[in-house]
Amino acid sequence: MLSRGIDELREAWTNKVGIAAFTTYTLESTRAICEAGSSVGSSVIIQAGSSSFAGVGRRILASAALAMAAESSSPVGVHLDHSTDVNEIRACIEFGYSSVMIDGSHQSFEDNVALTRLVVAEAHEHGVWVEAELGAIAGEEDFSGESETSELTDPFAASEFVDRTGVDALAVAIGSVHGISRKPVHLDLALLARIAQTVPVPLVLHGASGLDEKELRAAVQCGMAKVNFNTELRRAYLASLRESIDGRSDDVVRVQHAAIRAMAEVAHEKIRLLTR
Ligand code: 13P
Repeated sequence: MLSRGIDELREAWTNKVGIAAFTTYTLESTRAICEAGSSVGSSVIIQAGSSSFAGVGRRILASAALAMAAESSSPVGVHLDHSTDVNEIRACIEFGYSSVMIDGSHQSFEDNVALTRLVVAEAHEHGVWVEAELGAIAGEEDFSGESETSELTDPFAASEFVDRTGVDALAVAIGSVHGISRKPVHLDLALLARIAQTVPVPLVLHGASGLDEKELRAAVQCGMAKVNFNTELRRAYLASLRESIDGRSDDVVRVQHAAIRAMAEVAHEKIRLLTR
């Protein structure tokens, strides 16, 4: 079923478990995310940002996500990831999304506050919850590189930001990066603890691929209620396609099924890890 409202995220936050949010680019990845959620019996979030829409088109990817969410046996949220475009946000609200992210993290604090307030007001009118970002998480969302450092989130600025914007969930920068880099990445859990003390809403961890499992669990315990994965699912998809092609199969359905299975396995493992 399509998840509506913020209750599931707040419940996860209260119970110190995490809801896994996975990026989709294709029908196969959307299917895999829903299957993984249903197989564990847990809430899950399908998300796509503007760059994923560039593949098959916004309306097509969004419609498929909403349709598969609706027929799923466990709750599935459909979320717009990293949007900087208010018109794109409006379009997704109109499609029937559960939640949207307005990413004003590259703007000044005051401009980020103003933009986020505007989106919160419009989204809430439609029962859609909003994630924003303060601080800046390094790395590219759609491919891995050797990333520059993040601008870590200041706990007091985060508290003021939530207070002034009324945002429902906040993505914070505590050292994770988008993508898997060669340099090992560690979370600043002491900083997270200070942020969690000052910020009264569920926190969001971006760049969860490749993180140490213990650090990830500790972050969830400390308030990271939505945890975003992209690269590990993307890599499982591409590895499966390569394997199918090496096998010289021209059976497209077999290739699709293998890809769905490979991604669902990764997603299943991540959901279990966050809900243990
Ligand atoms: P990873 O690609 O590192 O998993 O990050 C995903 C993400 O944060 C999407 O917003």
